[in-house]
Amino acid sequence: MKSINFTGATSALPERWRKHPARTSLHGCDAIGAMKLLVFAGSTRAGSWNRKLAAEAVRLATAAGAQVTHLDLGDFDVPMYNADLEARGTPIDVIKLKQIFFDHPAWIVCTPEYNASYPALVKNTFDWISSPVKGHPVWSDGFRSTRGKVVGVLSASPGALGGLRSQSHLVPLLFNLMCWVVPVTFGLARAADAFDANGALAGEFARRQVQAVIDQTLWAASRLQLDARAPESIA
Ligand code: FNR
Repeated sequence: MKSINFTGATSALPERWRKHPARTSLHGCDAIGAMKLLVFAGSTRAGSWNRKLAAEAVRLATAAGAQVTHLDLGDFDVPMYNADLEARGTPIDVIKLKQIFFDHPAWIVCTPEYNASYPALVKNTFDWISSPVKGHPVWSDGFRSTRGKVVGVLSASPGALGGLRSQSHLVPLLFNLMCWVVPVTFGLARAADAFDANGALAGEFARRQVQAVIDQTLWAASRLQLDARAPESIA
């Protein structure tokens, strides 16, 4: 009978497979440590629960070894989408946002819930960044900044459902943008009571749920990135 040496088989793998996240622990491994993660909230309100949740996600993901960019949509001058306006030239801050989203293989979005859906800010941001820039050398591809991204979805609301209905509308939008949505999500209910005086999540349960979404996002993004066989239409 032929014996198979599993240890020896490892060295025959190409370099990109040796660092495969499945071969290491979730925290502190090279592949995840190098992962660029974009974290943002769908609210620009000063006291926003979703901005607080995004800040917590930034802390947890940074501690997990990710290279985190904390994006505040309030820092960008983006009008309500209007095709006539766009025909006169895509706003420079939209181009900046396209580049930022493109540069990050993994995202965490923290969305509020308005009328059982996600707010106009989230829709407007995604509409602008997915709109092709006519004649542009790279941004004429409307899906360039969103295609193949791995997205972890969080929400927060003062209500009992934690914005879960917002997630149920946001996920199909993300699919349309050709994103891979992480199957574990979390909605922070009773958000007004969920943070301590320093703005950190007070409850261990909520923190663990947020951590789970972050871990799965980083893990899945690492796997997708390492799969060099992925066809152009996928990533
Ligand atoms: C809300 N809010 C809300 N909350 C919820 O749980 N379900 C809902 O359907 C709605 N609908 C809704 C509509 C509109 C127009 C507004 C302005 C608000 C309340 C919302 O969750 C609350 O204002 C949050 O605080 C908004 O998120 P940020 O800004 O705190 O992140």
